[in-house]
Amino acid sequence: KLKAVVIGASGLIGQGLVRVLENNQYEIAGTYMARSLPGLTRLDLGDFSAVQEYLHHLKPQLIFLTAALTNVDYCEEHPDETFRINIEGTRRVVEEASRLGSKLVFYSTDYIFDGKNGPYDEEIQASPVSIYGRSKFEAERVIQEVLEDYLILRTTVVYGWDRRSKNFAMQVYQKLQSGVPLQVPEDQVGNPTLVDYLAEASVRLVQQHTCGIVNVVGKDLIPRSEFSRALARVFGLDPQMIVPVPTASLKQRAQRPLQGGLKTEKLGRLLGTEAMSLDEALKRLRRQWRGDAQITYAKAERSGESARIAKEIFDRVKEYYNLVHKEKKFVPFKTPISYAGRVFNEQEMISLVDSALDFWLTLGPYGDLFERKMRGFFGARDFLLVNSGSSASLLAVSSLMAHDLEGHLEKGDEIITPAVTFPSTLAPIVQNGLIPVLVDAEVGTYNINPYLIEKAISPRTRAIVVPHTLGNPCDMDVICDVARRHHLFLIEDACDALGSTFRGKLVGSFGDMGTLSFFPAHHITMGEGGGVIINSARF
Ligand SMILES: Cc1ncc(COP(=O)(O)O)c(C=O)c1O
Repeated sequence: KLKAVVIGASGLIGQGLVRVLENNQYEIAGTYMARSLPGLTRLDLGDFSAVQEYLHHLKPQLIFLTAALTNVDYCEEHPDETFRINIEGTRRVVEEASRLGSKLVFYSTDYIFDGKNGPYDEEIQASPVSIYGRSKFEAERVIQEVLEDYLILRTTVVYGWDRRSKNFAMQVYQKLQSGVPLQVPEDQVGNPTLVDYLAEASVRLVQQHTCGIVNVVGKDLIPRSEFSRALARVFGLDPQMIVPVPTASLKQRAQRPLQGGLKTEKLGRLLGTEAMSLDEALKRLRRQWRGDAQITYAKAERSGESARIAKEIFDRVKEYYNLVHKEKKFVPFKTPISYAGRVFNEQEMISLVDSALDFWLTLGPYGDLFERKMRGFFGARDFLLVNSGSSASLLAVSSLMAHDLEGHLEKGDEIITPAVTFPSTLAPIVQNGLIPVLVDAEVGTYNINPYLIEKAISPRTRAIVVPHTLGNPCDMDVICDVARRHHLFLIEDACDALGSTFRGKLVGSFGDMGTLSFFPAHHITMGEGGGVIINSARF
């Protein structure tokens, strides 16, 4: 496994990178500054010795540097601080990367240009008109002077669904949502870039061993005001609440490049496909908004007395665990063997108590971390934690009926499922007004007999829902083949089968969606709990 460090991992781009790196099986460490997230280390880019120590200690093969001061107007008024963090901070990372032989991926911007005649390609001489722009350009120069194996990715107007972020899309959402009109420049042109695309393209370029400067942005150039209106439509808000104004009327501290934006020809050549269109990006944003899949929760900071008490409590929990719950030595013919039951260790008890101290009764920081880890474990497009395996099934089957799903199901459509099944695998089919068509199970595995499925298909058959009974994987070769040939949606109920594989691939990752249960009888538990694994881009 390659080890990657993301400096600035709680920021918009940093979080996007962590998601993609996890899905690509990298070993990841990350740092935060303003927004703490579980699993990340606090690191101030302006604390040079801390930066060097951190990297020296971890010795990553890859360093993603997304951290910087990025508030352009703040930077204009604080040039010393801006240069110290954005240039000198970068210099320390560069020096350590050079010592360790690590590849550096650095995020830059079209603000290194004056905006007189954009969009710009990678060869054009920079001409910054703001302190922020100058700091990023100087940082690029530091990298180029010292390193050979570097990737400078220039981007612009990066946006994404993240409730804790102040990115442009979230500003539009928050203002319009609260009924406040928003003034937006009509004369600033750029190419909005969905953060997920930026992160995915970054990792692909790294995997292709690309070096040098590459523009990574969305394909379409558009004025900010038009982009805002498109965002309003995505979020179901009124586009008329966007008030287009000339930039000059906003009296901002720092000058902006007006005719900005970046060309994407080089990116297209390198990836073998055109940059992502605005239309596609907005569709993805809308799905994220609707699924609210990327909410991140703050972990409460403890300090002084509260940190001391928390530690004392955790130490006592550990003692208690070892006294009461620690796994006893197995004695043949004496120790009873349960077919199922709660399996947990001291760390899980500590996390449980940790959540309780913050009084997180609903999805919180650990839920968020768990969703991310499960996304990575399954290599899934998404993973949603819900309150039970039954709810996961209900959500998965109901989403087949969603009106904005192309080819969605209608009441009266048929779903094939085995006759031996769990009630809550069957119930959502009936609840949605769909018709379950039952196929016999095999003796021995008690899974659906895959060879009987095709005979059960009628003109109204639209989907197959298969449980992997008691951890035995169904024959996914045959089932996937039937689903593909007959254009049927496929949902796997993997509630009993977390970690089971078929031909080396995890069950739950074959179908459009998979479901899991974290009820105590299953492999891992959170009391009640379930999850939906989302594999298909259609969901
Ligand atoms: C195959 C299967 N599907 C769904 C479920 C429902 O999960 P939950 O109890 O979390 O609602 C179970 C529960 O045991 C199950 O075994």
